[in-house]
Amino acid sequence: MTLRHLLESRLTQALQKAGAPSEAPPMLGPATRPEFGDYQGNGVMGAAKKMGLKPRELAEKVVAALDLEGIAEKVEIAGPGFINITLKSAWLAGYVNGVLADERLGVATTAAPQTVVVDYSHPNLAKEMHVGHLRSTIIGDALVRILEFLGHRVIRHNHVGDWGTQFGMLIAHLDHFEGQGQDVSGELADLEEFYRVSKQRFDEDAGFARIAREYVVRLQGGDPNCLEVWQRFVGESLSHCEQVYARLGVTLKREDVRPESAYNDDLPCVVEDLRKAGLLRQSQGALCVFLEEFKDKEGEITPVIIQKSDGAYLYATTDLAAVRYRARQLKADRVLYVVDARQDLHLRQVFAVARAADFAPASCSLEHHAFGTMMGRDGKPFRTRQGGTVKLLELLDEAEARAFALVSEKNPDLAEEERRQIARVAGIGSVKYADLSLNRTTDYLFDWDKMLALDGNTAPYLQYSYARVQSIFRRGDLEAPGAQARLLIAEPAEKTLALKLAHFAETVEGVASECYPNMLCAYLYSLAETFMRFYETCPVLKAEDPVRQSRLLLCQGTARTIRTGLGLLGIETVERM
Ligand code: ARG
Repeated sequence: MTLRHLLESRLTQALQKAGAPSEAPPMLGPATRPEFGDYQGNGVMGAAKKMGLKPRELAEKVVAALDLEGIAEKVEIAGPGFINITLKSAWLAGYVNGVLADERLGVATTAAPQTVVVDYSHPNLAKEMHVGHLRSTIIGDALVRILEFLGHRVIRHNHVGDWGTQFGMLIAHLDHFEGQGQDVSGELADLEEFYRVSKQRFDEDAGFARIAREYVVRLQGGDPNCLEVWQRFVGESLSHCEQVYARLGVTLKREDVRPESAYNDDLPCVVEDLRKAGLLRQSQGALCVFLEEFKDKEGEITPVIIQKSDGAYLYATTDLAAVRYRARQLKADRVLYVVDARQDLHLRQVFAVARAADFAPASCSLEHHAFGTMMGRDGKPFRTRQGGTVKLLELLDEAEARAFALVSEKNPDLAEEERRQIARVAGIGSVKYADLSLNRTTDYLFDWDKMLALDGNTAPYLQYSYARVQSIFRRGDLEAPGAQARLLIAEPAEKTLALKLAHFAETVEGVASECYPNMLCAYLYSLAETFMRFYETCPVLKAEDPVRQSRLLLCQGTARTIRTGLGLLGIETVERM
């Protein structure tokens, strides 16, 4: 049980004993300031309101009923009715001993494993993967790692865009080249350019446009030759993505690709089932679903278009089939959509129609975890200086090159190979961490200097903190603390650090339920800072045993927690930096 759960359950019991309604939450969390103790409960105010009592009156009853014998040194009421808990150092030392003796640092595997489908990365294969997909890939991959670490059954869905009229144009273009016996591998190396040229041809050459439309029809009709060219194109585009995944250390594999086209055969059934459910209406020739909840200010409902008058299905139709597949076939308890915030309305509509048509039972939670746009330093969406799409591989090359220059300046004596290795870990780590450390819902400013800085809430700072702790062991020529080492807490800095280490488990659990990786980043940053303060005030190597052993245990616990935490975010560490 995490420390938070333990205190929470005791506080809940006390609230009940004091007569609070059973649904009143204790609202317990780490104290926001040291003078408030170690944890604080803010639930009394809400409960008192429901009960028609004065908050302080209820707080007194709760404190009287609160059983923290042996655990807390002090329980105080502050302000209108906050309950501040200060833990006993000896008890905390014993608790954190247990955490550090655990390989998983106190993060238990869940007693109630869920099936969680995570829809992430999902580039559109007609074009080169861009920075928007980079965000989804990085955030999604961190969530996947955390959920798996907690013991959930995670199904990755790379819902790539591989269908639609643009593919008719692209494969007509490809087929034309190949028909002329030209080698297209060079053209396909730059998908963005390939797309641009075929689009230009499509717009300027009526003959080609007609052929392209024919290809769409043939593709939809399952023409083997067309399908073959299409598959080659899709395969090529996927290998581009995989190069990016490999460089980023992202866990997505080919078998996780569950493309839009996988739902093609099911689309007529989706339409039929919506019809049976009485949800479909004709509107200007198209089949639509009108739901009250999508009324605008004028009282007009924004319809969800399911099938156009020419028979074509839409992005939403595929998404409805996907929801149904995930809920019914895969029996998902949760489906997480790590998708750009600009698709918020689209996903709200899909979820609402899916509920109305009973495609997903109420027990299946459909969650859009949105993220904002990546902005350049000029405050506009991130692009190349020429205004083009930034090539992700080039972006990652630049990250490593910049990191290499920094490492070489700082550590000119290290062998080049080691500097390259550090640059890779720090460079890639910086790009990922910069994305993960901010609240994902806001737009974020892509700034090389900031993300590569050795101070502040950055990957290099945490990686450096890790390497620094490891260097203590190297310098003292020490083995890790022995199994007989016990944590002793005497100094305030020791207590603060021990408490921080105890927070790791509850932080990881929080991220798994709320899907905000920045909570874990903030935790790791604060852990590293807390460690620095401890290290400044409490001598380690100069102390005598058993204090020295205890402090070494805190050092080692900090290093392990940083490494494990960064690992859960998909970020590596090095032993020396
Ligand atoms: N392929 C889409 C795009 O590039 C994102 C897909 C998001 N997932 C979904 N189930 N709609 O914008």
